[in-house]
Amino acid sequence: MTTLPSSGAGTAIVTGASSGIGKVYAERLAARGYDLVLVARREDRLRRIAADLGSRFRIRAEALVADLSEPAGVAALADRIARDAAVSLLVNNAGFSALKPLTRTPDDVIARMIALNITALTLLSRAALQAFKARGKGTLVNLGSGAGFAPYPGIPVYGSTKAYVYLFTQSLQSEVRETAVRVQLVLPGAVVSEGWDVAGGAELEPLPDSIVMTTEDCVDAALSGLDQGERVTAPSLHDASLLGAYEMAGSGLLQAVFDARPAARYV
Ligand SMILES: NC(=O)c1ccc[n+]([C@@H]2O[C@H](COP(=O)([O-])OP(=O)(O)OC[C@H]3O[C@@H](n4cnc5c(N)ncnc54)[C@H](OP(=O)(O)O)[C@@H]3O)[C@@H](O)[C@H]2O)c1
Repeated sequence: MTTLPSSGAGTAIVTGASSGIGKVYAERLAARGYDLVLVARREDRLRRIAADLGSRFRIRAEALVADLSEPAGVAALADRIARDAAVSLLVNNAGFSALKPLTRTPDDVIARMIALNITALTLLSRAALQAFKARGKGTLVNLGSGAGFAPYPGIPVYGSTKAYVYLFTQSLQSEVRETAVRVQLVLPGAVVSEGWDVAGGAELEPLPDSIVMTTEDCVDAALSGLDQGERVTAPSLHDASLLGAYEMAGSGLLQAVFDARPAARYV
């Protein structure tokens, strides 16, 4: 087997690279010259994608099979991030949803969703920031969702996991200030992917075409935002001032809520 020389971009780890948004990230990053570590549970798909991207873009592409809703899977990937000095980018993309009210969502689905969407993303973010800060550079990309902005009927657990990703990822900015380590939060709206079938969306009326973005457009916009130095990228949000107003309202409330006196309406 011939070993390809590294392109210099380093190695990108993409979680959830066996389908949807993660698969497109893998392709776009390969086109940018990154070597790849592709992570998911479905080994056959990962190996096919790795072989295809490796030969099309002349990069090194590896399949790393891991269930990131299990502590062992997260630990294996965190260890790889810590040990492999070539790792320069982590895309925390793996995640899933269930389109069900809380009372009809089984215990194990809730537990796995929180384990993947929150716990794995948090521990892998920590592993990446520790490694990148020690190496003096690196980029962490976390996939949140527009569904995390406000309560949305039918996705109480999913929407809340993404609200966590919003606050958590924004919180990390203070830990990388004045370093060459970058953190980007990506907030897609609705994107065509198998994720909708996984969530049970196949049983619902299809969403109108006018609100559903392709995976390619979503990832290309997210990478454009990264190139422009954005800390938060919402690929389908046309009026960016709405995001600014949301952030301002949040930090205004945060400051206003700390007061020793009860508010006048309670006394
Ligand atoms: N599609 C949308 O409308 C939309 C909107 C906003 C945000 N997002 C977010 O975008 C991300 C990607 O979603 P998608 O729409 O591209 O969904 P998708 O096509 O279902 O892809 C999800 C990926 O995550 C992997 N995955 C699922 N469970 C896993 C586990 N336990 N361990 C490791 N990998 C696991 C899946 O691979 P395996 O099954 O092979 O493990 C797959 O590669 C998610 O975080 C999602 O919340 C999606």
